[in-house]
Amino acid sequence: IPVMLNTLNVIQTIIMVLQVFAGDDGGEWTNWSNWSSCSVTCGYGSVIRERLWRFDSGEFSKYKYTHSIECWTEVTCPVHGGWSMWGPWTYCSEMCGGGTKERSRECNNPKPSKGGDSCAGEAKNQTECMDDPCPTIPPNFDVGQCDNSTFMCDSQLMCVPEKEKCDFEVQCHDGSDEKNCYQVDYYNGSSLVTVNLVIATLSAVLLAVLTNNEDR
Ligand SMILES: *[C@@H]1O[C@H](CO)[C@@H](O)[C@H](O)[C@H]1NC(C)=O
Ligand SMILES: *[C@@H]1O[C@H](CO)[C@@H](O)[C@H](O)[C@H]1NC(C)=O
Ligand SMILES: *[C@@H]1O[C@H](CO)[C@@H](O)[C@H](O)[C@H]1NC(C)=O
Ligand SMILES: *[C@@H]1O[C@H](CO)[C@@H](O)[C@H](O)[C@H]1NC(C)=O
Repeated sequence: IPVMLNTLNVIQTIIMVLQVFAGDDGGEWTNWSNWSSCSVTCGYGSVIRERLWRFDSGEFSKYKYTHSIECWTEVTCPVHGGWSMWGPWTYCSEMCGGGTKERSRECNNPKPSKGGDSCAGEAKNQTECMDDPCPTIPPNFDVGQCDNSTFMCDSQLMCVPEKEKCDFEVQCHDGSDEKNCYQVDYYNGSSLVTVNLVIATLSAVLLAVLTNNEDR
């Protein structure tokens, strides 16, 4: 078993010896105490024994000489579970009128083992998103005018010009013209922002991101 004399104790001892010899009062070391019990109840810890300096006057120096040895309890310590980082947010379930998105994490950092506790708290986290109000269907809207140059909203009650699909602006009353577009999350300096994009407008989006004025 390795014997560890910790530095602090060595320093304390030197200070004490200097103190003893600086004064008139002599003295001697007491016998070593018995070994303490192991400092931990699982894994490796230390046992110590110590001796005191007794001045001739009968008083003890406040410094003591400590001898420390590693001890092994023969009991493996439990490994308590820890959470991984949160995963990315899912896309918002709605594009207007309030939807939800969620993210999850796993209890694998580390995985609990050897009788350790599982992670405390939720593995899933949900939040609201896209809470701008949805547009309304224009009065007297005629679905008959929808053709192959328009995008039919999921509700089949309204259509919008095809080129306005995935243009970052919700026109369908159910938000479907901005759904299933390629979405990108980015951080605009103060909050996480989700934008939709189609490849054709990628450069416009990059410009918007770079100039920071897309805030939806
Ligand atoms: C210290 O130990 C020695 C022998 O190991 C013993 O004779 C002596 O009585 C002890 N002193 C005290 C104060 O216990
Ligand atoms: C030290 O250990 C011995 C033997 O185990 C015991 O008789 C004695 O009382 C112990 N001394 C102290 C101070 O605990
Ligand atoms: C989601 O996580 C945040 C921050 O960690 C917390 O404040 C919020 O209560 C959590 N919400 C749910 C529904 O777990
Ligand atoms: C759109 O419909 C018109 C007539 O309804 C047809 O002539 C045209 O070929 C169609 N265009 C496409 C791209 O399908």
